[in-house]
Amino acid sequence: MSKIAVVGAGAIGCVFGARLAFFTSHEVIFCVRTPFDLVKVTLPSGQDMRVDMHPTKRKNIEEKVRNISLNEISCPVRCETDPSKVSPVDWILLAVKGHQVEGASGWLRALCGSKASIAVLQNGVEHFERVAPFSFGAKILPVVVNCPADRFSPGEVTQNSHAKLIASDSEEGRDLQDIFSKTDLSVELTTDFTTETWSKLCVNVAAGPATAITSAGRGIVSEPSVSNVCYELTKECAEVGRAEGAKLPLDFAEKVIERIHGQPPDGTTSMLADKLAGNPLEADAMTGAVIRYAAKHGISVPTTKTIHAFLMQINQKHDFV
Ligand SMILES: NC(=O)c1ccc[n+]([C@@H]2O[C@H](COP(=O)([O-])OP(=O)(O)OC[C@H]3O[C@@H](n4cnc5c(N)ncnc54)[C@H](OP(=O)(O)O)[C@@H]3O)[C@@H](O)[C@H]2O)c1
Repeated sequence: MSKIAVVGAGAIGCVFGARLAFFTSHEVIFCVRTPFDLVKVTLPSGQDMRVDMHPTKRKNIEEKVRNISLNEISCPVRCETDPSKVSPVDWILLAVKGHQVEGASGWLRALCGSKASIAVLQNGVEHFERVAPFSFGAKILPVVVNCPADRFSPGEVTQNSHAKLIASDSEEGRDLQDIFSKTDLSVELTTDFTTETWSKLCVNVAAGPATAITSAGRGIVSEPSVSNVCYELTKECAEVGRAEGAKLPLDFAEKVIERIHGQPPDGTTSMLADKLAGNPLEADAMTGAVIRYAAKHGISVPTTKTIHAFLMQINQKHDFV
């Protein structure tokens, strides 16, 4: 049994932290600013969580699901609001937004020890660089999160589609896989994390900035005047990713945009959700990262620079605390 802390109990922290609290015997602590007694994850409508599951997992889950509704996971959890009340743990699931890492460093200081590992459940490509200054001797495992989710109130979230984590095929990656092995969710291991993380960033920049700037759903990407901007953003991101070693085909940007055209026009993005909630946009971790890596490789990214300037203006217009 491991001791696991969830720092950043929002949409992603709750989707994955709830699985550990519900399905496993790990000791799970939610480190929060606003406490809650119960974590509740509403699953995608019509999804039976036992489908496509490995038989050994299915057995464990079937014992649990006898007592619950198939489209909701909920259980009582331990929340702490004061870092002085916690001590070093084995694993930290860090799921604050990219720009919130420093603000959460008090938690990391209290939870990290030489045996701790931090799974960084964030978008972007700079998981390691962002967290290293606040890791206090713990190991850092960057993780790609595939899971559209929304938070409605403290501890209460909706998972909108299938969820999985992708980590490097490393000792820490295998440990994280083991931690989730008794849940319905999987941790996929890859020997090419660079490609995974840059392809996810391409998907994020394709729709996030356009939806946030216009306050419109994903359908905005199909507007002829906007579509080309989204395509150029994605193409620039893919080019920079390829310079970093990501194996992205030359038509990757076209494919990403085409896929968005086929999605429901009222679909949201996390950047749009932040804009509408009046929260800072995760622009530095997305377009900001593309600009930094472009400079490293001497690649010109004019569309990304223009769009990033607009996103940062949105951030400056709010008095964020
Ligand atoms: N949501 C998605 O669909 C999705 C999908 C894939 C990847 N991602 C990525 O996953 C990461 C997390 O996103 P999210 O959507 O889960 O964000 P979120 O819902 O905004 O959750 C972030 C959580 O961090 C908490 N937090 C921030 N600063 C803190 C501090 N100093 N101490 C304790 N808690 C703190 C916030 O607490 P408060 O409630 O107190 O503000 C909030 O609960 C991001 O990098 C995002 O891009 C998101």
